[in-house]
Amino acid sequence: MATRPERDTVLHSWTVQARWDAPTVVGASGAYFVLADGRRILDFSSQSECSNLGHQHPAVVAAIKAQADRLCYIANAWGAEPRAALADRLLERSGFQGGRVFFTLGGADANEHAVKFARLARGLPLGRVFTRDRSYHGATYATMALSGDARSGDAARPAAYGVEHVPPPYAYRCPWDSRDAEDCGRRAAEYVTQRIKAHGAAQVAAVLMEPNAGTNGIVAPDSYWPALRAGTRAHGVLLIADEVMSGFGRCGEWFAWQRYGDAGRPDVMTLAKGLTGAHLPLGAVVLSAEVAAALEHEMLQTGLTYCGHPLSCAAGLAAVEAYAAEDLITRSRTLGREMFTTLQLLQERHRVIGEVRGGHGLFAVVELVRDRATREPLAPWPQLAPALAALLRDALDAGVSLAARGNLLLLAPPLIIEERALADTLGLLDRLLARHFPSRS
Ligand SMILES: Cc1ncc(COP(=O)(O)O)c(C=O)c1O
Repeated sequence: MATRPERDTVLHSWTVQARWDAPTVVGASGAYFVLADGRRILDFSSQSECSNLGHQHPAVVAAIKAQADRLCYIANAWGAEPRAALADRLLERSGFQGGRVFFTLGGADANEHAVKFARLARGLPLGRVFTRDRSYHGATYATMALSGDARSGDAARPAAYGVEHVPPPYAYRCPWDSRDAEDCGRRAAEYVTQRIKAHGAAQVAAVLMEPNAGTNGIVAPDSYWPALRAGTRAHGVLLIADEVMSGFGRCGEWFAWQRYGDAGRPDVMTLAKGLTGAHLPLGAVVLSAEVAAALEHEMLQTGLTYCGHPLSCAAGLAAVEAYAAEDLITRSRTLGREMFTTLQLLQERHRVIGEVRGGHGLFAVVELVRDRATREPLAPWPQLAPALAALLRDALDAGVSLAARGNLLLLAPPLIIEERALADTLGLLDRLLARHFPSRS
């Protein structure tokens, strides 16, 4: 019996089903994937900012095959070699010696568990958690509540989950009307401290945020995270860094908070995406020694059937080794700086570019505006501007897959991208901006 077309049988995420008509991908290698019609497409978003090692990394694929031959699955009640080895490497890389790692299946469940553990460690089962407006932490109910994401709307009420959203350190549109980015960052951090004081620190379990670059297009000024760390520490509130997207080189460090050294060290961090370079699903919650000690004699009333799945952990272990062996964190930092400099040149040529953010690693946000003076967005957030959608279609026709959200272009190629392909794509972007926004170029 012939297989029916996917558009008739699969419920696809983040889309209107009736409009879904994407081509089928039949293979991939390095920074490229291949469509059923034979076209080779450069992946300039690393899918969902997760294929950091490129596709089909040979060492990761080999590790999965070798583990599959030995032991595909064993539950968490038993030990598993790749699980132990990966936890050890993560604690070593993050400098969380003496801590512990809880493995999940992805980013959302990592964030949910981080909050559970923070509340348990603080002895506050219903303790308040602060997160930001315009943030994304996952699509399960609890993480929808944690997320300050316009797309979730009222589907999950933050208050019902003990969550309170605070304004983001969005310096280009500073909630405090400051025109100085660092000042805006400091005010955003100070606001969190004020809210902790207003509730009383004894009622607040944790603050959960991304350290600098966020998937919803905000890149916090450098003043932000260290000030947030200082404020939370002063009140004994746990700081959870959501490193699901920003980890594993995306922001030019193993983990984005490391940009700030020990002044940025969180109490807990969550990982997924780049953890296996998306070769298999895996997430993790990494606990500091202090938080781990607080849980040491507690009964942990939680778990998922596939926590610490040996195949995923073997993929994670090989991925961590590949980042180190190929020096990909440094590569991301160097190429990220180059990409950022070129984007700033594009900003000089195209008035539609209001701001370019990021550049700590291979992650940059290009914010498009109708008018530079008023900063009016190209389309009201989070709607995708039609001209931007047309630009994406033309890029795909030219063999490059670009990602956009609202009025933002998100550039996040795999860390293994060749310099030539990076330069060619930025040249293509230059031509497409001139084509689609001629009056603003
Ligand atoms: C910052 C951040 N946190 C959490 C998530 C959720 O991860 P997952 O889709 O693996 O559940 C994402 C996914 O895009 C993310 O970008």
